[in-house]
Amino acid sequence: MGAIKVLIDCDTGIDDIIALSYAVKTPDLEVLGVTTVCGNLPTEITTYNTLNALHLMGRDDIPLARGAEKPLERELQDAAYIHGNNGLGGYEFAEKTTKTPVELPAWEFLYQVLREQPEPIDIIALAPLTNIALLLQKHPDALKLIRRVVFMGGSLRTGNPTPVATFNVLADPEAAKYVIATKIPFVMCSLDCTRGSYFTFEDLEATKQYDNPVSEMVRAVTRFYINSTKNENTVDSKKKGIDIHDLCTVMYVTHPEFFQGEQYFADVETKGELTTGFTLVDFEDNLRKPPEDKTVLFLKKVDREAYVRCFMDTLALY
Ligand code: RIB
Ligand code: CA
Repeated sequence: MGAIKVLIDCDTGIDDIIALSYAVKTPDLEVLGVTTVCGNLPTEITTYNTLNALHLMGRDDIPLARGAEKPLERELQDAAYIHGNNGLGGYEFAEKTTKTPVELPAWEFLYQVLREQPEPIDIIALAPLTNIALLLQKHPDALKLIRRVVFMGGSLRTGNPTPVATFNVLADPEAAKYVIATKIPFVMCSLDCTRGSYFTFEDLEATKQYDNPVSEMVRAVTRFYINSTKNENTVDSKKKGIDIHDLCTVMYVTHPEFFQGEQYFADVETKGELTTGFTLVDFEDNLRKPPEDKTVLFLKKVDREAYVRCFMDTLALY
């Protein structure tokens, strides 16, 4: 099978840039474009980081479109406390790109690329779903042009940063609710799953065998992340390493065999005083929804060893 064609939406951030370093290098993916959105940091910063990340990875050829400056209905609550004020834990690009985003806003760019494809393709969503919701609100026919939305976020009954909400949903719960309610085929690479996507400190040390600027970036951005996620909650502080949530999500597209998941009905809480951003995943079928409403493939587990080995093998290609 040839390389899988994808579009990637991100809020580059620490795990986003590591995910991009895999996505744009693996021979298993053809990245047709990247879009940016507010999330971890404001869109100005996530766009700057993503443009320069593509430059660092030798992929100035991949077009980038800048997206939403704020969530659909709320003010942005960013995650600088996790990713640092520059979104990359203070890591600075040695060489700055002169490349700029395309003219079109992200949702129009996504629509343009989708219409150019002979068949539906995947959108890998590594950030709040604001751009994807805007795409589907403005162009409902895009539903037929998208094979799947493969999303980092959601959880059964855990959360980061709240006890029940994951960041990419909490930052724009209305967008997540809207996208899932369209019944588009949706892969939810949940926090339950990505908590198995950790790099151990030995894994990070092992990246030194690949003497290239991307491998150096991975070690530099994770230095900050090791400390910031330790304070995030007790689960992470007991961890044997650091979760690379977005990398795990991308790797589902290239290696679904590494993952375990089930098809469920899901919805998103947007009004709860304590539960806003909670992804209601009906894993006990309490609601007895018909099969056609069970549009969410909820990923529960990843084979960590296989996932790390695959990343390392790709890092070696730089
Ligand atoms: O909860 C982790 C997710 O939120 C990741 O996508 C991270 O980059 C942040 O956007
Ligand atoms: Ca992200």
